Amino acid sequence: MNNTETQPFRFSERSNNLPSSFLRDILKVASSKDVISFAGGLPDPSLFPLKELADCADSVFRSHGSGVLQYSNSEGLMSLKEWICNYYYNKFEMHVHPDQILITNGSQQALDLIGKTFLDKGDEIILEQPSYLGAIQAFTAYQPRILPIPITHDGLDLNSLEQALLNHQPKLLYLVSNFQNPSGFTISREKREQLAELASRYNLIIVEDDPYGELRYTGSHLKPILS
Ligand SMILES: Cc1ncc(COP(=O)(O)O)c(C=O)c1O
Repeated sequence: MNNTETQPFRFSERSNNLPSSFLRDILKVASSKDVISFAGGLPDPSLFPLKELADCADSVFRSHGSGVLQYSNSEGLMSLKEWICNYYYNKFEMHVHPDQILITNGSQQALDLIGKTFLDKGDEIILEQPSYLGAIQAFTAYQPRILPIPITHDGLDLNSLEQALLNHQPKLLYLVSNFQNPSGFTISREKREQLAELASRYNLIIVEDDPYGELRYTGSHLKPILS
């Protein structure tokens, strides 16, 4: 038996080591009509603002014409990037320049690009324990060594984090700052400041994922760690 018979497609080493997609498994079950799945954060479709979105699409096509369907800059539409900068200024008084913004197709592409840009095989990275499955999957493709750090109700356990920083050379720390997936915890203001201080002391990149910050119903919004 030669190698081509046992393994017809000669996948890259990176792809051969990939586990099956957690997200795909979760979404496959969730799409079944007999199942109400709490595993994925799927909104109730009856809440989708269909008419408003259709009106928006209509208005965009009418005001921008065929330009809407043309290729744009690969880093994203300038007017959208400027809108995002204004959002950060109005909400958090942060000065973000459009050159610092990159529009991606959802967070999965962003996480993949971060892995591609920063991680070599065997590099150490820190993840919250527990962490978001999509991020584990995106980073795993780049074959890092994962250092899990436990979280408490107000974010990462900083003693364990500092121990890890003293004993290892992690390149990046990925965290979800507001209503973390899966714990629901939010990192306190004090911990955000301490994390920023540790990141600068240990030359650590913090990847702050914030899909849920806008879903706050009580209390005030906390500034991103970058601020
Ligand atoms: C922490 C976290 N980041 C990102 C996402 C997904 O974001 P997107 O829809 O942009 O891929 C989720 C969704 O479950 C999430 O929990």
